[in-house]
Amino acid sequence: MQSSDPRPPLSGTIGFIGGGNMARALIGGLIAAGQPPASIAVSEPDPARREGLAADFGIALGADNREVAAQSDLLVLAVKPQVLPEVCQGLRGALERVELIVSIAAGVPTARLRAWLATDLPLVRAMPNTPALIGAGVSGLYAPPQCGAEARARADRLLASVGETVWIPDESAMDAVTAVSGSGPAYFLLLCEALEQAAIAQGIEPESARRLVLATALGSARLARETARSPRELRAQVTSPGGTTEAALSVLFEGGWNGLIERAVAAATRRGRELSGSVV
Ligand SMILES: NC(=O)c1ccc[n+]([C@@H]2O[C@H](COP(=O)([O-])OP(=O)(O)OC[C@H]3O[C@@H](n4cnc5c(N)ncnc54)[C@H](OP(=O)(O)O)[C@@H]3O)[C@@H](O)[C@H]2O)c1
Repeated sequence: MQSSDPRPPLSGTIGFIGGGNMARALIGGLIAAGQPPASIAVSEPDPARREGLAADFGIALGADNREVAAQSDLLVLAVKPQVLPEVCQGLRGALERVELIVSIAAGVPTARLRAWLATDLPLVRAMPNTPALIGAGVSGLYAPPQCGAEARARADRLLASVGETVWIPDESAMDAVTAVSGSGPAYFLLLCEALEQAAIAQGIEPESARRLVLATALGSARLARETARSPRELRAQVTSPGGTTEAALSVLFEGGWNGLIERAVAAATRRGRELSGSVV
């Protein structure tokens, strides 16, 4: 694929510990942005996943985390949070070459990562989301104060290969980021699902219903972004007094819409905190 990113590739070797869905998305994004496949190494225990990544991207694959870490300048921790303590402890003493560690594990604080790895290396915590799989993700990123500008820029470049990046100054807000943009695709898709069902109930063919709903979702998001007008303003624009939109919105408000999403996000944030407390 031709690179559309004018920035030079990331320097050195980028090592991934774990070659699952998110690692695959990042690797695909990096290569599409012009990163040479020879500069990427992955450690992944599943032979079928290893073969798939090698065949699709022409990158170096192995099953030994320490070997991949030992050749990496930038190390990406892309395993599930439950296995992260063991993975990190297994990497101790194999980080001589590493200049920056980026963890994409949901809910794992940087202080805990630092203790597991027994390192003072610059560390960035990132929370991507599943649209990263098609390069349309958004990631919240946090770096502790001791992490320098160069390390931050490098982490930003890594995550920007699969979408937008938003820096979060306070790590305690990362659980809320998980609740908003990490889980967020599910909220929008739930709305699409419900709207599709409602369309069918009103007599629209299923295939047409899906097309109408998805195009409306995409178009609304693009409209908000490209006109730089707030969602509230744009909503008001389609809501004429006494009209069809107002009839629908009044049902949503009567059904408790106000505050519902706030409560849902608060519940997800709380659950994120509980889960991060349980990874020890
Ligand atoms: N998917 C999302 O929406 C999303 C969003 C934000 C953040 N994240 C975070 O991204 C991380 C990866 O998620 P994912 O969806 O990509 O999960 P995934 O597809 O399960 O990928 C994790 C990979 O790590 C491998 N692995 C397991 N134990 C390992 C070990 N000891 N050493 C090296 N590799 C090992 C797994 O292999 P096996 O399958 O053989 O165990 C799997 O291939 C998670 O921490 C998650 O919290 C995910």
